[in-house]
Amino acid sequence: MRMVDIIIKKRDGEELTKQEIDFFINGYVNNQIPDYQVSSLLMAILLKGMTNKETFYLTEAMLYSGDIMDLTKISGVKVDKHSTGGVGDKVSLIVGPIIASCGAKLAKMSGRGLGHSGGTLDKLESIPNMNVNLSEEEFIRQVNDIGIAIIGQTKQLVPADKKLYALRDVTGTVDSIPLIASSIMSKKLASGADTILLDVKFGSGAFMKTVNQAKKLANIMVEIGKYFKKDTRAEITSMANPLGRAIGNSLEVKEAVNTLLGNGPSDLVEICLESAATMLLQAKLVNSLKEGMQLAKTNLDNKKAYEVFRKFVIYQGGDVSYIDNLDKFEKSKYTYQIKSKQDGYIKNIDALTIGVSACKLGAGREKKEDIIDYSAGIYLNKKVGEKVSNGEIIATIYTSKENIDDVLLDIYNAYSFSTKPVKIPPIIYDVIE
Ligand code: URA
Repeated sequence: MRMVDIIIKKRDGEELTKQEIDFFINGYVNNQIPDYQVSSLLMAILLKGMTNKETFYLTEAMLYSGDIMDLTKISGVKVDKHSTGGVGDKVSLIVGPIIASCGAKLAKMSGRGLGHSGGTLDKLESIPNMNVNLSEEEFIRQVNDIGIAIIGQTKQLVPADKKLYALRDVTGTVDSIPLIASSIMSKKLASGADTILLDVKFGSGAFMKTVNQAKKLANIMVEIGKYFKKDTRAEITSMANPLGRAIGNSLEVKEAVNTLLGNGPSDLVEICLESAATMLLQAKLVNSLKEGMQLAKTNLDNKKAYEVFRKFVIYQGGDVSYIDNLDKFEKSKYTYQIKSKQDGYIKNIDALTIGVSACKLGAGREKKEDIIDYSAGIYLNKKVGEKVSNGEIIATIYTSKENIDDVLLDIYNAYSFSTKPVKIPPIIYDVIE
C-alpha cells in the first residue's frame, strides 16, 4: 500500500477502506509517513468529507493508537461528559458533584484552556494546592469513595490525535466535521466510561458557528458512540453569549460554588440540571428525564451536591478553606468597572470577544508555556435580557496587567443594546440520541 495512492483516492472523492485508514494512522504514529503527505490527505478529507463508515474506521484506528483506560475496578455505571468548549463553561464543576451525589460515577479526564475557551484543569488549579495529577490507583480509589475525580491525562491516550491535531492546527485543517468528530470521540472512548454526554456548542464563542453545523457534528459523534456500543447523547447548546456571569479561572470556581449553594445564574443552572438529568438517565439511576431532573434538583437544593464538591476538593489536596470562604481567593491587582452609556436592555454579549478579552487580561494562555493569572477575568454584571440604565455597571474587569484600555473598549463593544425588551434566547436547542 502507498500513501500517495490513498491521497489520490480521497482527492478524487472516493471512500477509503479500513485497511487504508489503518495504514495511514499507524504509519503516521510510527513516523513512517511524513507530515507533508498526511497534511495533503487531511486537506483532501476537509474538502471531500468522509462517509460515516470512514469516520468510524478513523476513530477506531486513532483509539487503538495508544492506551485505553480500564475503569472496571470502579463499581457502578461510569458516566462521562465532554463540552466542545466555550466561554464561562464551568458546567463540569457543578454537574459532576450533582450526579455523584445521586450515585453516578464520574471518572473524568479533562483538558486545559485552548485559545479563547477555558479548561477545567486550569479552573480547578485556581484552588490552592488542588492536585489534578493523581495516579491511576488514586483516581480509581477516589471515584469509588466519593463518586467523582477530575484529573489530567494519566496514560498515553490517543497519540495519533496529538500528532494530527498539531498538524491540523498549522495546515488549515481543523474545521472538518469528520476530523473533529474522530478527534473528540477517540479520546472520549479511550477514557473508558460506559456512557458519554456531549455538549456541542454553536455560536460566536464555539468551534461550530451555526446550529446546523453543530447538529451535523453531534449526529456523527452519536453515531460513532453507537458503533462502539456506548450510550452516547448530545446536547446542542448556544455559545452566542458567555455561560453564567463569570469568565476566568477562580471567578468561575466561585460561581460554581455559589451555584452549588443555590445562587447560580439561571442559564447555568438550567444547563447543569438538564445535563445531570440526562447523565442520570444514561446511568440508569432514574427511569425518565423528568425523574432525573427532580433528583438533580433535590440534591442541588439540599446541598448534597455542594458537600460532594467539598469532599472532591479535600480528596484532591485542595485547600477547602477557600471554598468555605470565597473571599480568600487572591484578588487581582486592578479592578475596572465598565458602565453603560445608554438606557435600555442588553441584546447580546459576543462570547468570542469576551473569551479573547479574558485571555488578554491574563486568564488564558497565548503561548503554551504562558503562566495563567487565576484571579484575572470578567464578571458580567448585566446579561442578555436585563434592563440597564445609563451609567450602570455592565461588567467588572479583574486583571494584574497594565495598559489594557483597548481590552476594556473591546469588552464594552462586545455588548449590544436595544431600546425595547429583549427575549432571552434558549440555551439548549436540541438533544440528539
Ligand atoms: N476538540 C478536539 O478535541 N478535537 C478537535 O478536532 C476539535 C476540538
